[in-house]
Amino acid sequence: MSYKRVLSGIQPTGNLHLGNYLGAIKNFIAMQKNYECFYMLADLHAITVKVNPKDLKESIFNTAATFLASGLDSKKNTIFVQSSVRAHSEISWILNCIARVGWLNRMTQFKEKAGSNKEKASVGLYTYPILMAADILAYKASHVPVGDDQKQHLELCRDIAIKFNNDYEKDFFKIPESIIPKSVSRVMSLRDAKRKMSKSDESDISRINLTDTKDQISQKIKKAKTDNEPINENIFSNHSKRLEAQNLIKIFASLRCVTEESILKEFDGKSFSDFKKQLTEILINVISPISDKINYYKKDKQQLLEVLVKGNSKASEIADKTIDDIKKIIGLVQ
Ligand code: ADP
Ligand code: TRP
Repeated sequence: MSYKRVLSGIQPTGNLHLGNYLGAIKNFIAMQKNYECFYMLADLHAITVKVNPKDLKESIFNTAATFLASGLDSKKNTIFVQSSVRAHSEISWILNCIARVGWLNRMTQFKEKAGSNKEKASVGLYTYPILMAADILAYKASHVPVGDDQKQHLELCRDIAIKFNNDYEKDFFKIPESIIPKSVSRVMSLRDAKRKMSKSDESDISRINLTDTKDQISQKIKKAKTDNEPINENIFSNHSKRLEAQNLIKIFASLRCVTEESILKEFDGKSFSDFKKQLTEILINVISPISDKINYYKKDKQQLLEVLVKGNSKASEIADKTIDDIKKIIGLVQ
């Protein structure tokens, strides 16, 4: 198979942030030029934790608006809603029977998300990576752009695809590759660089939302944690404990599409106050146009709905064929 097909998804929960943008969406946009791309609103993943139905519906529209506002072309790409393509849930069940309990038990994200009270976590949160494998394999995607936190789930997806091929039919599933940004694979919180920037962090100043105003961006960068030392080349040395400094330099380098070394050279010996001024400027240049467009698209739900309905139908055609083939292969009577 020579096709280059991309599938990726983002959960429609709350506002997307700079981590989603640099870790995932920026790559989605880069890949739309040369790949056939499927970008999904992973609403079935979003209900693995309790979510208010009204908020979920609103977030589905907001996330679709964010996709378009960030530069995803709805004519070139298939933008769709996971729950509208029934094959995802069906394939997921079959893959539940392929995946091994031992494999799932190793997933670190479940341990982090379930916290100390695993017994009370939903079964869906535990089997979430299998649904993710179904999302990818339904389209026989060759490449999956994601942030570093999803790497382990991608490896599980590969293991499931290999086992299915070995158990049933050699070469049925394409074994997908993950595409993870090299420089800033994990954007960290602006308040605590040991934790990733996340929608679920209670502190709004820990993240830059793609809907933040210029003033909010400026305030958040002013308050972002740093240390008292000037910027120098030792920030990234092996024994460096300057995690907050590393995070801000990486964000800056990624926004400018240059290396961290070139940023370190440019600001060598300078204090973080100089650096923060320029970081704020570039963040505003990148985020403000996106934020304006999100507001524009959010107002036109009809247009969003049209994009999604068209995407759902195109995605269903492909995923339906995959589930039909799977049923035949494993001996289910149709
Ligand atoms: P969140 O973790 O904020 O709920 P999602 O789980 O919906 O976000 O993630 C959507 C995409 O964004 C995934 O590809 C994920 O790897 C990426 N992503 C999320 N947070 C970050 C981060 N802090 N840094 C880099 N990529 C991230
Ligand atoms: N699980 C991913 C996340 O939380 C979102 C997602 C769902 C996804 N299905 C996917 C990502 C398939 C890539 C491919 O970020």
